[in-house]
Amino acid sequence: MAIRQVLRMGDARLLQVSEPVADFSGLQELLVDMKDTMKALNGAGLAAPQIGVNLRVVIFGVPEMRNPRYPDAEPVPETVLVNPVITPMNSEMNEDWEGCLSVPGMCGLVPRYSAIRYQGYDEYGSLIDRVASGFHARVVQHECDHLDGMLYPMRIRDLGNFGFRDVLFPNSPVQDE
Ligand code: NI
Repeated sequence: MAIRQVLRMGDARLLQVSEPVADFSGLQELLVDMKDTMKALNGAGLAAPQIGVNLRVVIFGVPEMRNPRYPDAEPVPETVLVNPVITPMNSEMNEDWEGCLSVPGMCGLVPRYSAIRYQGYDEYGSLIDRVASGFHARVVQHECDHLDGMLYPMRIRDLGNFGFRDVLFPNSPVQDE
């Protein structure tokens, strides 16, 4: 078990399209490292490419005990999601503030689908098939974007809504995806 270094925007590895997982038996060590790293950095989610592993694996989860940045958000179940597929439920989108462990100190206003279906596998190869909306849907879309080399600043429509978190939200604690 180890806390791994999180790659920061500018590293070309964050722009790669990651490979599907074919062999689930090799995932345990990666997942322990991802969970340790996410917890150590108080993240809401983490994607394998953020620690330099080019596989389609994400983890996320926000316990009921409060994500201070999203006081009204529903809890997001602790989830390991492998080879995910996202299908928007409809064309409705909304904008909200996001941060990312690969873009430390910054946040931006990002459009996302309001409701999605997401499918994939857990670490044992069992099927996951869920419908999510709001913050839950936002976190899943953010993490899965990492698997296609997409970072949230690339989705900001107006860069006037991108900046340093401690300037934009002086009293807000930090939690990044
Ligand atoms: Ni991120």
